Amino acid sequence: MAEIARSTPTSSSSSPLNPHPTARIFPGSRCNLVFAVWSFVGFVLLIHLYTVVTHDKNKGDIYVHSSRVAPTRELEEVEEENFRLPPPRSKRNPRAVKRRGPRRPPTVIDEFLDESSEIHSLFFPDQRTAVVPTQGGNDSMHFYPGRLWLDTDGNPIQAHGGGILYDKATETYYWYGENKDGPTYQAHKNGAARVDIIGVSCYSSKDLWAWTNEGIVLSGDESNVTHDLYKSNVLERPKVIYNDKTSKYVMWMHIDDTNYTKASVGVAVSDSATGPFTYLYSMRPHGFDSRDMTIFKDDDGKAYLIYSSEENSELHVGLLTDNYLDLTREMKRVLVKKHREAPAVFKYEGTYYMITSGCSGWAPNKALAHAALSIMGPWETLGNPCVGGNRIFRLTTFFSQSTFVLPLPGLPGSFIFMADRWNPSELRDSRYVWLPLAIGGVADEPLEYSFGFPLWSRVSIYWHRRWRLPDGWSNA
Ligand code: DGJ
Repeated sequence: MAEIARSTPTSSSSSPLNPHPTARIFPGSRCNLVFAVWSFVGFVLLIHLYTVVTHDKNKGDIYVHSSRVAPTRELEEVEEENFRLPPPRSKRNPRAVKRRGPRRPPTVIDEFLDESSEIHSLFFPDQRTAVVPTQGGNDSMHFYPGRLWLDTDGNPIQAHGGGILYDKATETYYWYGENKDGPTYQAHKNGAARVDIIGVSCYSSKDLWAWTNEGIVLSGDESNVTHDLYKSNVLERPKVIYNDKTSKYVMWMHIDDTNYTKASVGVAVSDSATGPFTYLYSMRPHGFDSRDMTIFKDDDGKAYLIYSSEENSELHVGLLTDNYLDLTREMKRVLVKKHREAPAVFKYEGTYYMITSGCSGWAPNKALAHAALSIMGPWETLGNPCVGGNRIFRLTTFFSQSTFVLPLPGLPGSFIFMADRWNPSELRDSRYVWLPLAIGGVADEPLEYSFGFPLWSRVSIYWHRRWRLPDGWSNA
């Protein structure tokens, strides 16, 4: 440390060599002072780094505490979730045993899916905790992932596997999704749980919290067994984009038969965001099988179909025609052999991002975030974007599966991650898990060839039991 001698008033004198009469630095101490200052700077930097990145040695997870300033800082707090497994039950639900097989001991996910288990009711709380947009009070404007979410008429929102369109003309958000409000059954002994096609629902909102039912904008077909939308077929993951050139709203969706062997995409079109949509046709894109899918409209007006193909082993990205009603021949295979589905694509500062799930039917699994400089690839995998909750939450995407990522126009780099918490014992009672997603901070998995330096910003989805959009999110 530098020695500073305080001179008494009587001894103080100013001279050309010492212009500061009250303090004198003794010879040889200048180096020490410099050393002290740099030590202090280094110490402050270390503390800062520690608060930005914290390693959980037990779990190998990295928590990133974003230093982003308000208003999004609150959403990027890491919120832990205490989650205690009830002891295994001696008598198990025969339907669940049938699904899982008799011998294997049940996992947490088996319990979560078993409608008679305690865990199941934890994740599918009943209507007493429902989010009711017509009620004011403390809960107004708050999202509660996994709780029942009612529309402005007081009915549970039916928009599963959905996506959101912001309509500039009406300055309104439209949420489209599968209406699954029918009985769940298995078409075959070992078939997946299913609900007959009812149609695509549409809800409108200005604030993303209170949603008004605009009705079924594309209906299933009750009588024509040869129609793609005949009730015993499959209509999943509808997404709508607006074509500025043709002034049409264009919907793409997964079309399949009961056994998921048709593996096609369907296209429908409307003059209005609230429909009705006219169903045009289905096809196997580029001649390939196609199951989970999404569409993405880029800033330059080009739009793309992204679909799981080759029996879900890879994704394909295909450019749509200018009117968005068909595909061009331009297509790239991406994430080959990665076995991903439920793609949700978004863009920030020129980089394309995608969240995907693994392929495990209605059962939740670990999400992955991917990034690319061109939507046609190559796409690189960044790692699991889920932050907070607890380990099982992060390994199951908070017990849900991605469907869409919505940008918040007033908060660049902030998004809403939209996911489905499927309930295969009663699909109409599947829930919505909406959480804040942020791009920024330190990436968690440097790529093999990147010499340990992350090449991409981290994509983080933050767990919150209860949260609301920060002021200024809409830019309005
Ligand atoms: C997973 C898909 O992501 C869902 O959309 C649905 O097709 C289920 N599989 C059916 O098991």
